[in-house]
Amino acid sequence: MKKIILTGDRPTGNLHLGHYVGSLKNRVKLQENSDYDEMYVFIADTQALTDNFNNPKKVRDSVLEVAIDYLSVGLDPTKVTIFIQSMISALPELTMYYMNLVTLSRLERNPTVKSEVKQKDFGSSIPVGFLNYPISQTADITAFDATIVPVGDDQLPMLEQAREIVRSFNNIYGDTLVEPKAVIPDNEVCRRLPGTDGKAKMSKSLGNCIYLKDDSETVKKKVMSMYTDPNHLRVEDPGNTKDNPVFIYLEALANDDHFKKYLPEYKNLDELKAHYEKGGLGDVKVKRFLYDVIEDTLTPIRSKRKYYEENIDLVLDILKKGSVKANEKANETLKRVKRAMLIDYFE
Ligand code: TRP
Repeated sequence: MKKIILTGDRPTGNLHLGHYVGSLKNRVKLQENSDYDEMYVFIADTQALTDNFNNPKKVRDSVLEVAIDYLSVGLDPTKVTIFIQSMISALPELTMYYMNLVTLSRLERNPTVKSEVKQKDFGSSIPVGFLNYPISQTADITAFDATIVPVGDDQLPMLEQAREIVRSFNNIYGDTLVEPKAVIPDNEVCRRLPGTDGKAKMSKSLGNCIYLKDDSETVKKKVMSMYTDPNHLRVEDPGNTKDNPVFIYLEALANDDHFKKYLPEYKNLDELKAHYEKGGLGDVKVKRFLYDVIEDTLTPIRSKRKYYEENIDLVLDILKKGSVKANEKANETLKRVKRAMLIDYFE
């Protein structure tokens, strides 16, 4: 069986460090180790509209921003097909057919949908399009015969639901669709980066993000005012590194070379942590180091971003070519699905 990797993001704003350590970095690694037959990364604008239907401008502007973020972190359009979801007309068609295979109560039980419904305050007025998005996401995945779907752990219920739909479809209509597998980051700290305020998740709506496009000054301000251990009042106090976002970010980003370059009095993070936990190490020093590490990570990304911002036509062309290619593939799958469902009248 072919190994086909597929994943995507909702365009509702710029991508941040949480996206970087949780998925973008890993995508570039996957792209480079070439142990796959096809790889797709797409911008899920149709899905973004399910809860932003009244804010089309935000979604539209974010599509280009996310595309630039992708290219800036090193996704390579010669290796990965980058496309826009709404350009693929087979997707809503597949969604329509899969809708017959899912009950309303199953959708309402989906834990990710449930928590989003709460978070968005839909109450009992849930838009059908929103409730339906796990089915539409199954169309995204199956249209490309994806076998590997790298996602954050909040997406595991989506993948479970996709697998159920695939099994149900294949049971009724014969072996047609490929069952996907979710892959989540193996490094636990990377799975969910906390916000700069110490809240459980870096998230645009909480305003606690460091964005890939932030300039040096902005990053410095954000890092220097980060939440740390609230009980670490004086330098000599013993500190907690466990629920301390400064140390969690270092865990996710710092390597031994960073220590050599910026903080040579420590060999590695274990030594730095030990000192902080024992007492005698101030927050400012650790934050300065974190700032250097983040700058080291973001500097090459920023310079690529600048290039693409100055060459928007190139970005649009990449998206357009990717969408044409993705359409061909999805249309093939749609044909197969319609044949299996006996609705291929004139073939
Ligand atoms: N739901 C994903 C998110 O919120 C985005 C997404 C849409 C996706 N379709 C997908 C991810 C298919 C993986 C595969 O980030």
